[in-house]
Amino acid sequence: MANHQLNQAYTKAFETFLSHTNEKLILLEYLGKLIQSREVSSVLDIGAGNGDLAIPLAREVGRYVAVEQKPNYANTLRNSNLFVYQAVFPCLIDGKFDLVLGSHIIPWRKEEYTPLIFAAWDLVATYGQLVLITYDDTEHSAWNELRDGCNLPTSRRSGSRIDLFREVLETLGEVEVIELVTAVETNTLDELCQALAFVYSDGEIEKLTFFLKNEAVRTYLETNHKTEGRYSFPFTHYVLQVSKLPQAEFI
Ligand SMILES: C[S@@+](CC[C@H](N)C(=O)[O-])C[C@H]1O[C@@H](n2cnc3c(N)ncnc32)[C@H](O)[C@@H]1O
Repeated sequence: MANHQLNQAYTKAFETFLSHTNEKLILLEYLGKLIQSREVSSVLDIGAGNGDLAIPLAREVGRYVAVEQKPNYANTLRNSNLFVYQAVFPCLIDGKFDLVLGSHIIPWRKEEYTPLIFAAWDLVATYGQLVLITYDDTEHSAWNELRDGCNLPTSRRSGSRIDLFREVLETLGEVEVIELVTAVETNTLDELCQALAFVYSDGEIEKLTFFLKNEAVRTYLETNHKTEGRYSFPFTHYVLQVSKLPQAEFI
């Protein structure tokens, strides 16, 4: 396939995922409740993304600041009148925030996520919270069962990311872990395959095409993820949160 065709295939899969997941709604609902209950008035959103989560989230608070490394996303956020640092975090940020959020941005490598977590913590105001949201490779997740059921190769490391992050977060304070389940829901098998191909690809076009051409995946999804004529595939998100108590500031 020519390069532009590959890009089109990737864009199609990405857009199919975005238009069929309830992820943003569920995350927003959770964060909205957190903002209300803890009277959060300022948010630092690290890795704010394309605005689907950031723009509605910004409406919930008096002061919203985004950090986003991609210039096109940073522009989209600015066009919605959000304050954006177009930079790779950790970077220099002014002030402290009631809520410092990192949703689906934590790197895989310890030498990368450890400084990121500590830098994010530094920006949490006293009585504020650091909230990290991530997926995990738990043994019985639908995603792992799909990969095992279809013998899909994976570049992911084994073992729980949650336990690794928890280890770092526990040096800062008491860690609370909350599970949120979202779903990709489609009318057709093709749409479900497109959406899941985006997830499987990790941004690599070869993996995207491998997934889309895989007959075992189609059979597996047809057998295990179809109910009453519709397709549904669940994902569990883990929210890890730590509050900054006055004495913890000096750790
Ligand atoms: C998977 S998206 C998540 C977007 C949004 N937070 C959400 O949960 O819907 C990750 C975004 O974070 C940005 N990002 C990841 N790591 C970053 C970092 N260290 N500094 C700035 N932006 C980052 C990426 O460019 C991308 O737009």
